[in-house]
Amino acid sequence: MLHGKRVLLIVTGGIAAFKSLDLIRRLRERGASVRCVLTEAGAKFVTPLSLQALTEEKVYSDMFSLTDESEMGHIQLSRDADLLVVAPATANILARMAAGMADDLAATVLLATDKPVLAAPAMNVRMWTHAATVANVETLKKRGVTFVGPNEGAMACNEFGPGRMSEPLEIVAAIEALLTSEKPLAGRRALVTSGPTREALDPVRYISNHSSGKQGHAIAHALARLGADVTLVSGPVVVPDPAGVRVVRVDSADQMLAACLAAGAVDVAVCAAAVADWKAAKPATAKIKKKTGAQPPALELAPNPDILATLSKPGAKRPGLVVGFAAETEEVVANAIEKRTRKGCDWIVANDVSPAKGTFGGERNTVHLISAKGVEDWPTLAKEEVALRLAGRIALHFGQPPKAQAAE
Ligand code: CTP
Repeated sequence: MLHGKRVLLIVTGGIAAFKSLDLIRRLRERGASVRCVLTEAGAKFVTPLSLQALTEEKVYSDMFSLTDESEMGHIQLSRDADLLVVAPATANILARMAAGMADDLAATVLLATDKPVLAAPAMNVRMWTHAATVANVETLKKRGVTFVGPNEGAMACNEFGPGRMSEPLEIVAAIEALLTSEKPLAGRRALVTSGPTREALDPVRYISNHSSGKQGHAIAHALARLGADVTLVSGPVVVPDPAGVRVVRVDSADQMLAACLAAGAVDVAVCAAAVADWKAAKPATAKIKKKTGAQPPALELAPNPDILATLSKPGAKRPGLVVGFAAETEEVVANAIEKRTRKGCDWIVANDVSPAKGTFGGERNTVHLISAKGVEDWPTLAKEEVALRLAGRIALHFGQPPKAQAAE
């Protein structure tokens, strides 16, 4: 998707710089050419030689290098690119960008550019939440800089919170969104469910499952990238909200169904959530207490509504295309084929969620797309790629955008 695109990657001084090496590889796999500017601090984390080997291009670091200026002036460096990507973007470079400084090659190139800029912040959680960084990010956003991440999670400094640089494939998806203008789903409305649901036993305890929401969120993002107007109904997850998507947060299956119905008429619904099949028949209103010597309480369960089956019911309000997921641990394809018929959806994406496959919470997924036409086996792909393929297939199903059809 990035064939012929030229990316100028600015690598600044953060531990996440090691991920930028993989980012280069991913961009080149997609047909982009990459040229790097490495700051002095960045060079403490990755070497110019690694960047040069991966990009097969000269690496630029020195502002006053006569050779560099005669071969490729700093203005030319930014003009020659379709997009500037700052990854990792430290608090320091964001501050220098916000202040309009030009005290090294990276800052100068960023000041001199007339091209879109994408920043992938990476820093300690306290630096990210510091009022100075918050204000700098606001300023840069107002000036049109796009941000991807940071993600929340364990950090190299032994703290937990937002500040981890986005994964290379998330950055690639953000780059593709900035550089590709095709919007085959423009004018279409989409509903996506994602993540687990939580079913309360009492005010402090609940039943849930291991779903991370990564796949569902990636699908919402991919559909939005192709121009769809997307509502994402999500159970409790730690993955960040995808850009350009309306997010409705819910806890329980009942709330998820209500939110889906409240989203109104849509062209396509993709149910990727791992909805709990059962809830407590009578959730306690106060914390269930242990009583000395008493048996553990019996858990009486009641069925939850089936959101996918509800959305698939024939009728005027049924979306034109309903896509379900099948989480299976055995007989993956056979069970999913049966599930498609039982639920009444049009397509079902079957995946193996056995612990050995690492699908729940993992980065990759091996799926089979099942429709009335048959079964398609897809290779193991990053969840973002599964999402992009599925969104592409959905776009293909609908054909031309409604506006284009009306104009014909
Ligand atoms: N689903 C739903 N509402 C439920 C249960 C499942 O919308 N109460 C949806 C899921 O989002 C998914 C599909 O149904 O798209 C299949 O979910 P899965 O967990 O694989 O199947 P179940 O219906 O739970 O069946 P089983 O547990 O018997 O495999």
